[in-house]
Amino acid sequence: MHMAGIDRMRHRSAEELRELFLSYFEGLGSKRYASFPLVPDDPTLMFTVAGMVPFKPYFLGLKTPEVTRATTAQKCIRTNDIENVGRTARHHTFFEMLGNFSFGDYFKKEAIPWAWEFLTERVGLDPDRMYATIYLDDDEAGDMWKALVGLPDERIVRLGEDDNFWAAGPTGPCGPCSEIIYDQGPQFSCGRPDCGVGCSCDRYLEIWNLVFMQFSRDESGALTPLPKKNIDTGMGLERLSSVVQRVKGDFETDLFMPIISRTCGLAGIRYGESEKGDLSARVISDHLRASAFMIADGVLPSNDGPGYVLRRLIRRSVRYGRIIGIDRPFLTGLLPVVSEIMGGRYGELKEHGAAIEQIISLEEERFGRTLAQGTEILEGELGKVRRSSSDLPGEVAFMLHDTYGFPLELTEEIAEETGVKVRREGFDREMERQRDRARASSKQASAVMGKNIYTELADELGATPFDGYEATSGAAEVLAVIVGGALSDSIDCGAEAQIVLSRTPFYAERGGQVGDTGVLSGDGFRFEVSDTKHPSGDLIVHCGRLAQGRMAPGMKVEAAVDSNRRDSIRGHHTATHLLHESLIRVLGPHVRQAGSLVSPDFLRFDYNHFAPLSPDQIAQVERMAYSQVLADMPVKTSVMGYDEARKLGVKALFEEKYGDVVRVLEIPGFSAELCGGTHASSTGRIGLIKIAREEGIGAGVRRIVAVCGMPALEMFQNASSAMRSLCDVLEADAESLVSKARALAEDKKALERRNQELGLAGMTKAAHAAAEKAVRVGGVALIAGSFKGASREMLRSLGDRIRQSEPDSVLLLAGVEGGVVSLIGMASEEAVKRGVHAGNLVREISKLMGGSGGGKPSMGQGGGKDASRLKEALAAAEGLVRAQVGK
Ligand code: ALA
Repeated sequence: MHMAGIDRMRHRSAEELRELFLSYFEGLGSKRYASFPLVPDDPTLMFTVAGMVPFKPYFLGLKTPEVTRATTAQKCIRTNDIENVGRTARHHTFFEMLGNFSFGDYFKKEAIPWAWEFLTERVGLDPDRMYATIYLDDDEAGDMWKALVGLPDERIVRLGEDDNFWAAGPTGPCGPCSEIIYDQGPQFSCGRPDCGVGCSCDRYLEIWNLVFMQFSRDESGALTPLPKKNIDTGMGLERLSSVVQRVKGDFETDLFMPIISRTCGLAGIRYGESEKGDLSARVISDHLRASAFMIADGVLPSNDGPGYVLRRLIRRSVRYGRIIGIDRPFLTGLLPVVSEIMGGRYGELKEHGAAIEQIISLEEERFGRTLAQGTEILEGELGKVRRSSSDLPGEVAFMLHDTYGFPLELTEEIAEETGVKVRREGFDREMERQRDRARASSKQASAVMGKNIYTELADELGATPFDGYEATSGAAEVLAVIVGGALSDSIDCGAEAQIVLSRTPFYAERGGQVGDTGVLSGDGFRFEVSDTKHPSGDLIVHCGRLAQGRMAPGMKVEAAVDSNRRDSIRGHHTATHLLHESLIRVLGPHVRQAGSLVSPDFLRFDYNHFAPLSPDQIAQVERMAYSQVLADMPVKTSVMGYDEARKLGVKALFEEKYGDVVRVLEIPGFSAELCGGTHASSTGRIGLIKIAREEGIGAGVRRIVAVCGMPALEMFQNASSAMRSLCDVLEADAESLVSKARALAEDKKALERRNQELGLAGMTKAAHAAAEKAVRVGGVALIAGSFKGASREMLRSLGDRIRQSEPDSVLLLAGVEGGVVSLIGMASEEAVKRGVHAGNLVREISKLMGGSGGGKPSMGQGGGKDASRLKEALAAAEGLVRAQVGK
């Protein structure tokens, strides 16, 4: 039924094609899902690299899907070929994959004819230009292409594992695949004699990959058949659009062209005019799309993981902008175009528009500042190595990385442009050294603490059972006593020591929560615990001082935590969770915990965010957290498998490694987080929560300090008492305090101004008197005077006034305050013509007072430390001026 030679394909926008695809498979009983996030819930992958990634557990039979047929247009990121982006017609970092999936439902016999029907009937591709590739021994697929689609033998091509066996990664679900190839015509060919299906040029374009997913690969590489046979397909929307829109490459489609045009507009160049310009505009259009989507999904620039990729993308964009002459920040100016193209389908671009803009602009600005400097240094170094035709030392790349924030790959790229290679070993060595330095400094602490004894004890005694979630006191036995870093048989009264017990209700510092304090008591002894720690593994030691009696291993103790203090810690810890969730809800999902401290007196919470909290946002966060307190929600803890917790969407620190079994702390309906700390039994017990301070502590990391319970009351009491004192001092009441203070400040300013004017008026009078006593030296009038309490500014305005009435004068004006002299010298134009140099004059006179000074012929300033010599110094002026005009 081929309509050979008749071209039925009409132009369609990418938007239309995406919809055409999804509704086609919907019509075949598939559930349409919105795209899943770019950062997958999958420890083996940094980014979602294909449409199947979010469905992996279904393919592996680990989870039961709610449906057995699905279809998506999935946002994907692939960064393995980042250097090729923009250089070829088809490489991207961010792209959309159109896919249909069967979880043990339909298989080859449906997937093959459906794909064919979609492309030929719905999209209207010319069937006579289409080929299919199959895996070497996949006769089944070959037969179906023939029998169900009618493809002749010569258009079915068998290829090997590289081309026709697909896996998302080294391990996981995989299977043979079949690709649909579209012949774009000889004008797209590389011209090599063997150009044909399988050639990587643009003529025989792979447009759709149908994976017959039937195996799982383990670490050893062995394939095990999956419980059910599945289908996973993927077709790049960008590629399909380029074919349908009959353009040369993906970048010429409506997905990229508007971004490219705006970029070229900013640079004042035209697309298609120069290879360099085109390349830059293409790179920028790709990277900006990727960056916007990554930020919308919660990625922030950082030095490792997904954040590092984002940082690289933004920095590469900035640099490509410079190449085409855009020297100012420009990326955010392109964001509206990205949003216009993609924002209709992907609401997150609009929802997080402000965050995207701010983060990109911050990163661009930061990098822009060092880019010029770094590039100059790199170019200098490249010049050197080119002359000696060697490689660029890795140490240079490291320095650029360390000081100028140049990703290694950026240095390599710039070097490559001039044909120079970077010696990676040197770079790696320096990085390793830097890591060692960091490790060494964090190790010092444990070395001083006598690391060995604790590791030995931990090996011997194992984890100390902790009873403190339920109790704050309990009986135990002393297992070990450490005095002065060594095991001891006993402790003398008054000595500092560390105690290991058979079990304990004392919480040892961990996860930001400080260690408990309290008392260990027994037969005639009392040991005061000032801190509790985990010096090695899960061993718990109680640090403190024996206040009474004698204590030795084997003795029975009653361990009692200071429970008031512990209650306050509990409240602050639960408040930390409430604030964390409130920050996410107020600022956006990119907010992630970067550190915390929970103590009885306050809490500190650090998180990733790009801007200070406004007073409004602070109030909003406080209200949200406090309304959970008023609702008095129960605080629930449960212990479950890590995977189960992830499934429930529990918040976990990105870098943290958790054991298989985790403890989940839940405030029902509000927040769930992995946590090993101790908490209030219900939110009502926290009391008031108040943010006391907000500040930035590093690039993109903010900190809040907050108080709750009694400390919050104390803060409030202190504030009101300060307020009362202020009211007393200002004789105001609370309502009029601010207006009164403002009025006072204004009065003070006015008085100062008035005072200055009065002073100046008095000085002017004195100055005129001095002018009358002016000494004439060689045709100029030397006027000297000193003024108590006059500042330099006052002297200068005084000088300006006198100068107006004495056109051929030299002025020496001194202000005396606290035994120190400031001196101003001014010479009129006439005086300068006659040889006077005010700067030199001031220098000489200042020296006479034990000071220094200088300046220009018309104006100088200086001063002296010894006011008692002022008179004598001014007296010398006459001689000095005479000498100057005499020359
Ligand atoms: N998962 C397959 C691919 O990415 C469809 O090509």
